[in-house]
Amino acid sequence: MREGGGYGLILGIESSCDETSAAVVRGGAEVLANVVASQLVHASYGGVVPELASREHLRNIVPAVRESLKVAGVEAKDIDAVAVTAGPGLAGALLVGISFAKAYAYALGKPLIAVNHLEGHIHAVLMEQQQVSESASQRVSERGGDAVGGATLALVVSGGHTHLYLASLEDGVWRYRNVGRTVDDAAGEAYDKVAKLLGLGYPGGPWIDWLSAFGNAKAVPFRFVEINRGTVDEPSFDFSFSGIKTAVLRYIETHGMKAAVEERRKALEAIASPTLDDVKALCDAETLDLIASFQAAVVGNLIRQTMAAAAHFGATRIVVSGGVAANKELRERFDVEAGKRGLMVRFPAMAMSTDNAAMIAAAAWPKFVQGEFAGAALNATPQLRLG
Ligand code: KG4
Ligand code: ZN
Repeated sequence: MREGGGYGLILGIESSCDETSAAVVRGGAEVLANVVASQLVHASYGGVVPELASREHLRNIVPAVRESLKVAGVEAKDIDAVAVTAGPGLAGALLVGISFAKAYAYALGKPLIAVNHLEGHIHAVLMEQQQVSESASQRVSERGGDAVGGATLALVVSGGHTHLYLASLEDGVWRYRNVGRTVDDAAGEAYDKVAKLLGLGYPGGPWIDWLSAFGNAKAVPFRFVEINRGTVDEPSFDFSFSGIKTAVLRYIETHGMKAAVEERRKALEAIASPTLDDVKALCDAETLDLIASFQAAVVGNLIRQTMAAAAHFGATRIVVSGGVAANKELRERFDVEAGKRGLMVRFPAMAMSTDNAAMIAAAAWPKFVQGEFAGAALNATPQLRLG
């Protein structure tokens, strides 16, 4: 063990999009601190502005790391390795985290570990499954012995991604095979764009999630075309969400809802921190029905494709993660559908669904155990793929 460390402590850094996060995780499973600084500055632009994101990361990264060490009750010298998101994400945003992590690891004389953001999302769930009382070293051997089972199907569904992976642990190393992806917009992106079309705030996912409960999900019959770009031997369970966004836009136009949307947008702009009741009071029954129908269609499509892939690949365990995994209806309907098929489905805790550094530190743990370290040449890879 290296001097000063030896506790299995990984400092995780995440800065791929609009959250600056630093976390301290022991043995890949025990979260001692997970500090997330969300960048509210983007809300008024209706989406993430890359230049602003980089600037905010620069401002937040040092305080976030200091705070994470303080909350964890550890000193920098106790850290065994520094893990950082290498991609995918916004180039400038990633660079802030990577530059900081490189310098910090170098100054501490500790190894640097590069983590794929998507692998991080998957580990947000796997980590919670690992939260057993054994010591860190016992956990390593448990993971090596494949305590979490064989092939797992992981749906990563966020603002930037809608991907299906087969994941398996082989000799202590996680391997991923991409068996489905969106051909256009990500599901979270569709949520955000539809929220914008309806005059709701950014990010739109949480608003649509809450408001859906008050509408009739059968009011507007949205349809999805099944997409499969694969072959009989190598099927691919793909997604497409740009069509439903266009369908919502057309509905708004053909049902004379544009003026009401504009009024809502202006009314919400005038409220500093609108509550759910504020927003609901500004939505008529037709709007609530449209929102509920949109959500039911998106959730239905995500579940159908995931279940078809699980059946095809014989996966018995499904892991759902990423920002959209916070969605209430998605969680409830996944539970029901998995139950009908005798499958296990797992979601991260709400705080672990959206971007955070604890998931990055957790994904780094098997790499730490394997000695899979990054060099000083580590750079941001905005289009980094997994599997
Ligand atoms: O994983 P994440 O924090 O960042 C990315 O890697 O993209 O995901 C953010 C996305 C946004 O599109 C947001 O609208 C969506 O997740 N989201 C939700 C909910 N909470 C966040 N979508 C649906 N329902 C939610 N409750
Ligand atoms: Zn993410």
